[in-house]
Amino acid sequence: MKLIITKDHEEMSQKAAEIFSNQIKSNPKSILGLATGGTPERMYELLVNLNKSGINDWSGITTFNLDEYIGIEADHSVSYRTYMNENLFSKININLANTHVPKGTGDIELNCKKYDEAILAKGGIDLQVLGIGENAHIAFNEPGSPENGGTSIVNLTESTIQANSRYFKSINDVPKTAITMGIGSILKARKIILLASGVKKAQAIKDMIEGPMTDKVPASFLQKHNDLTIIVDQAAASLLKRT
Ligand code: PGA
Repeated sequence: MKLIITKDHEEMSQKAAEIFSNQIKSNPKSILGLATGGTPERMYELLVNLNKSGINDWSGITTFNLDEYIGIEADHSVSYRTYMNENLFSKININLANTHVPKGTGDIELNCKKYDEAILAKGGIDLQVLGIGENAHIAFNEPGSPENGGTSIVNLTESTIQANSRYFKSINDVPKTAITMGIGSILKARKIILLASGVKKAQAIKDMIEGPMTDKVPASFLQKHNDLTIIVDQAAASLLKRT
């Protein structure tokens, strides 16, 4: 595990964008695992700039996103598909047909099965970016999630619903369930970077890095990955003993 502590969210985003940029340069046919949320937004802006200035060519890239709400159509304003289109895909030269976001409508069990099969058929994920929840979830794998799970349907916890309510008109509009890549699927990625910014994430970061591996702290299962880079700003690192 490699830990990088940055001054702030901007520097965290720059370091993360640099890792993605190098991955795309070294393998223009990379399979990238992407995340939504506030944390990677600036990283996506930087990646858009790198694409516009000709440094990164996304035409051969394939992407798989971590999760999606259940019951939200892909073209809904708060869907994770819309987030990805608006923050990244519509601004770079990627072939939209090569971008994958789990489908939160229709036969969800079947969608889960097909999602894992699609990742496998592409040979697995080369580089996966993750955020972390205040309760140490990764993707929507809430506390109690199995470490070997594949893509599945999950119930969101109150703390996740609360944290995500900022994207909705009312907290009552936040879906209570989601489809998410499992911890087992995530651990199969060849390289993982986890980003966190702000003091609200400090306890989760401490538990993930310094605590035992336990399903109470889903991100702690990343301790067993052999190519994990954690990039956090000073506020998110503020509870770590070994800074
Ligand atoms: P955030 O979400 O980037 O919006 O803080 C991260 C997460 O819940 O995994």
